[in-house]
Amino acid sequence: MYIAIMGYGTVGSGVAEVIMNNQANIAKTAGQESIDIKYILDLRDFPGDVNEKLMIKDFSKILEDDDIKVVVETMGGLHPAFEFVSSCLQKGKSVVTSNKELVAAKGDILIKLAEENNVNFLFEASVGGGIPVLRPIGQCLAANRITEVAGILNGTTNFILTMMIDKNMSFEDALKLAQDNGYAEKDPTADIEGHDAGRKICILSSLCFGKHVFPEDIYMQGITKVSLTDVEYAKAWGGVIKLIGRAKKLSDDKISALVSPAFVKNGSQLASTNDVFNAILVRGDAVGDVVFYGRGAGKLPTASAVVADVIDCAQHLEKRKDYGWESGTTGYVVDYNEIETAMFIRAKADNKDAAKECIDSAFEGAQFIEKESADENEIAFVTPVLKECKIEEVLSSLGSIDILSKIRIVDY
Ligand code: HSE
Repeated sequence: MYIAIMGYGTVGSGVAEVIMNNQANIAKTAGQESIDIKYILDLRDFPGDVNEKLMIKDFSKILEDDDIKVVVETMGGLHPAFEFVSSCLQKGKSVVTSNKELVAAKGDILIKLAEENNVNFLFEASVGGGIPVLRPIGQCLAANRITEVAGILNGTTNFILTMMIDKNMSFEDALKLAQDNGYAEKDPTADIEGHDAGRKICILSSLCFGKHVFPEDIYMQGITKVSLTDVEYAKAWGGVIKLIGRAKKLSDDKISALVSPAFVKNGSQLASTNDVFNAILVRGDAVGDVVFYGRGAGKLPTASAVVADVIDCAQHLEKRKDYGWESGTTGYVVDYNEIETAMFIRAKADNKDAAKECIDSAFEGAQFIEKESADENEIAFVTPVLKECKIEEVLSSLGSIDILSKIRIVDY
């Protein structure tokens, strides 16, 4: 069987490497005599590359070649990936992608297109890199009604936060190290501003709850405002700061979904997920909590998931996968202001004692946090669990303090 790869970046070249290294085994598992890469589409030149002879710049060569049964899309970005993938599916070719931006924005349309053309559209590598998570949710947990899904979904930001927590490293130095290690997106804004994790929670919640969740409908906050001072307060509170994506089913036609930094208590599985590792917790009504853990980014781990999807496509050339993933609807994701949470607040006040009294009476049950070598005028506390809009309302009534940071508390 012949395949084509569109995009010879980190993941695309990893896919070629995995296929070449494990060719015989892969073909055997796929039930094929052989699995060969016929074309690699990329606008760049790769002089001297081991796959130089396979390089093409014209997409129509892939589209018009009936030998190509499966196309791997590792270009990233929405355009022209969406147009290329749509055309391949319409031509009766199965498509495997690692492109979370594409799946999060257009998953429902592409799944439908695959259905109409009796081919497969698989995207295991779009969430959790090399961690098997989408297939286990769709298959092994299929007997459950899933009520919640949450996790550390971005390797770059988890690496940065781990360096800040364990090594007291600055955000900038840690980001540079993550980029040098090849974890970050081409433009790291998507990682550090939470968009990458946001896209992944959209894919997970679409799959878990059966209806497309659009990235523009969810609240996304990254880690650029997390300071080493906040990291120290989290330690004093007994936990760590992690970038957490989470979604919860509230009723048949409502879910909550958001991405933000959060305080996580030491001892939880998410708190001990460090470096580039990801962890995804799925809560099912029959199984309880299940946590999927592993390398969430990097060339070969991600390629491992892509190639497994290629094998799946090869095994099911005549059979389609049914995701139970319907089109999205307006108002499906509730406004994050309506979600209940406890919140860590760090603030500055000229008269600290008076401000503490005020906080104490405004937030019944507020828990103050003390840390060594804190600024003289600094106050840190955790609010009781309230709707976010209520927390904002109470905070704005406390005229005498300057808010420096607000970080949600989660209990996973
Ligand atoms: N930049 C992404 C991350 C790559 O750091 O998790 C994997 O999706």
